[in-house]
Amino acid sequence: MQFADRLNRFGAEIFAALNQKKLELEAGGRKVYNMSVGTPDFVTPEHIRKALAEAAMDPENWKYSLRDIPELLDSVCRYYKKRYGVDIEPSQVMSCYGTQEGVGHLALALCNKGDIVLLPDPCYPVFQAGNFLAEAEPYYYPLTKENDFLPDVRSIPEDIARKAKYMIVSLPANPVGAIAKPGIYDEIVEWAKKYDVFIVHDNAYSDIIFDGIEGHSFLATPGALDIGAEFFSLSKSFDVTGARISFLIGRKDVVDAVRLLRSQIDFGMFLPIQKAAIAALDGPQEMVKEQCDDYQKRRDALCGGARKIGWNIPDTKGSMFVWAPIPEKYDSSMTFCMDLLNKAGVLCTPGASFGPHGEGYVRFALVLPPKQIEEALQAIKNAGVLG
Ligand SMILES: Cc1ncc(COP(=O)(O)O)c(C=O)c1O
Repeated sequence: MQFADRLNRFGAEIFAALNQKKLELEAGGRKVYNMSVGTPDFVTPEHIRKALAEAAMDPENWKYSLRDIPELLDSVCRYYKKRYGVDIEPSQVMSCYGTQEGVGHLALALCNKGDIVLLPDPCYPVFQAGNFLAEAEPYYYPLTKENDFLPDVRSIPEDIARKAKYMIVSLPANPVGAIAKPGIYDEIVEWAKKYDVFIVHDNAYSDIIFDGIEGHSFLATPGALDIGAEFFSLSKSFDVTGARISFLIGRKDVVDAVRLLRSQIDFGMFLPIQKAAIAALDGPQEMVKEQCDDYQKRRDALCGGARKIGWNIPDTKGSMFVWAPIPEKYDSSMTFCMDLLNKAGVLCTPGASFGPHGEGYVRFALVLPPKQIEEALQAIKNAGVLG
C-alpha cells in the first residue's frame, strides 16, 4: 500500500538503534542506567489515585463525557489565580489528552498549508510533528549557548515575523533546561503585538525549577492574554503522565478554534480522569515542592558529579533534563550516545534528535535517584569515554 507521504517525515531510526542496543546489553546481563526518556519514577499522590478510583466505580462516569465538566474548568481557573495570579474564565480553558496531543493538533486548527510557524531549535519533537501534520512551514529560531539557550525574538528576521502565524515558546525548556529570565516574556509580548504573531507557551515544567527560583505562567505577563495561550500539563507536577491531562488556556477565539477541531474527532475526557484532575488541582500541593527538591538533588548528583570526573556539564536551571556538551573527541551526539551505552551502560538521548542546533549535546532525563546517578557516573569514568 502507498501510505501518506507525511509519514516519511516521522523517522524513529535513532531511537530504534539505541533501544535495540539497550535490549541486547540487558539480555546479556548488563546493568543499563536508562536516562533517556522523561517518564518520572515518582509515585502519583494517593488522593489523586483515590479520586479516579472512586469515580470509576460510578457507572454514570463511563458514558461519553462530551465536554469538560464545569467543576473541572472552575478548578483550573481557581488554580491559575492561586498559583500564578492569573484571572481566566472557564470559556478560556479546554482540556486535551496531554500537551503532546494538544500541540500535535494545534496547527490543524490555526494554520493553512504553507503558513509560517516559529519553532525553537532544539525543541520538544511534537512541536515539529504538529507542524508537519498541518503542512505548515517551520522557521526555526535557534537556542544557543551564547544566549543561555533562550529565545531571542530580536534575531527573527522582520519579513519572517510579519508572515508568521504563531510561535511556540517553552520555558523551562526541554531539552536545554533553560528558564525564563526576568523581562523575557514582556519582550516577547511586545514583539508579538508589533508583528501580530500569536504566542503559544508550553508550560510543562513551572514546578521544576531549581535554586529557589519560582516558576510562573506566561499568561501572567501583562498583555499575554491578548496575544497568547498556554498549554498547562499536569503530567510532571503531579506525576500523572499516563492519565494524559493537560489544558489549553488563553485567548478565547484560539481556544474555541482548537475546541471545534477536537470536537470532530473526540467525545471528551473520561470523567474519572476529569475528577482526578480536580483532586490534583484542588488538593494538597506540598508534594509538588518536595518533588522539585528531589529533582534538584538529582540535578546536583548528575551535573556536580560529572564535573568531579572532568566532564563540564553546567547546572541545569529547570525542567527534568540535563543538557550536556559531548566530549571534544566526538564529532556526533549519536556516536557518543552509542559509545556511552556500549562502554558504560548509560543511556541518554542524542541532542541532534531535537534539531540541528542540538548537535554537540546529549540529553539526560533526571529519572533515577541520586545513588544510581552516582553509579552511572562511576561507570562513565571507568569506561574512559570522556578523555
Ligand atoms: C516541553 C514538554 N511539553 C509537553 C510534554 C508532554 O506533556 P503531556 O504529558 O501533557 O503530553 C513534555 C514531556 O516530556 C515536555 O517535555
